[in-house]
Amino acid sequence: MKVVAVAGAKGGIGKTATAVNLAMLSSQAGFRTLLWDLDPQGAATHCYRAKAKVKGGAAKVLGGRRDLANFVRHTDYELLDLLPADPSFRIVDTVLSTRRWPERVLRKLLRSVRDRYDVVFLDCAPGLGIVTESIIEASDLVLAPVVPAPLAVRGFDQIAEFVKEHQPGMPVLAFLSMVDERKVLHRQVMTQVADDQRFSPATVVVSSSVERMGMEQVPAVLASPHNLAAKGYAGLWADLENRLDLQRPIPTD
Ligand SMILES: Nc1ncnc2c1ncn2[C@@H]1O[C@H](COP(=O)(O)OP(=O)(O)O)[C@@H](O)[C@H]1O
Ligand SMILES: [Mg+2]
Repeated sequence: MKVVAVAGAKGGIGKTATAVNLAMLSSQAGFRTLLWDLDPQGAATHCYRAKAKVKGGAAKVLGGRRDLANFVRHTDYELLDLLPADPSFRIVDTVLSTRRWPERVLRKLLRSVRDRYDVVFLDCAPGLGIVTESIIEASDLVLAPVVPAPLAVRGFDQIAEFVKEHQPGMPVLAFLSMVDERKVLHRQVMTQVADDQRFSPATVVVSSSVERMGMEQVPAVLASPHNLAAKGYAGLWADLENRLDLQRPIPTD
């Protein structure tokens, strides 16, 4: 089981859109996939038409006495399960801080479902604190969207630095998110990161098909698979499959 955290210090950079679409592509590729919505706002949960509610809330989930599978729901799609958000995850840092080893909580919980899933995506709330520390400890790769603006690249430096401090050696992969090639600044940032090994060659353009996900509640890669943004997610997924050394299951039919 491989765990990918879609994380960043900032909000509004495309973390949720990325987690939602990559989870769909992963399940379409034949991998048993879990999307865990760790943001109390529940945007990923909404995109999969689920209710943002977990029985017992954060305290119960993180209590560690129950198998994580008890909180998981099936989505409308084959091989794709969802662990929905719950508003009580607003105080997840407080809940975690009562634990002896807060940074190990998520890793332990995910271990309980390691035979059920091939790939897990964690849609993280913005911020760098104890929750992110626990997320990083549980992950195999941190995926960090970067919108093409000078300050956003600095935001990426922050998360890369944070990971290095807490989990030296953990791969952190950046990619350009919400790119608008009509903008000079965006083109400049694209050129600037083209030779930067920390960035995936895949980029995701700004597209109304992604915005519509909030209303239509269907992942963009499914609703508009030939759209440029969908192609960006496909490129990103191909890069991840390669980096995580995921072996595609052989189809049975
Ligand atoms: N590639 C994109 N094209 C157009 N809109 C996007 C794209 N990615 C994200 N958005 C929109 O930008 C807003 C923030 O994206 P979101 O994925 O929720 O960011 P985060 O999870 O980092 O806060 C949302 O309204 C979303 O629909
Ligand atoms: Mg989000």
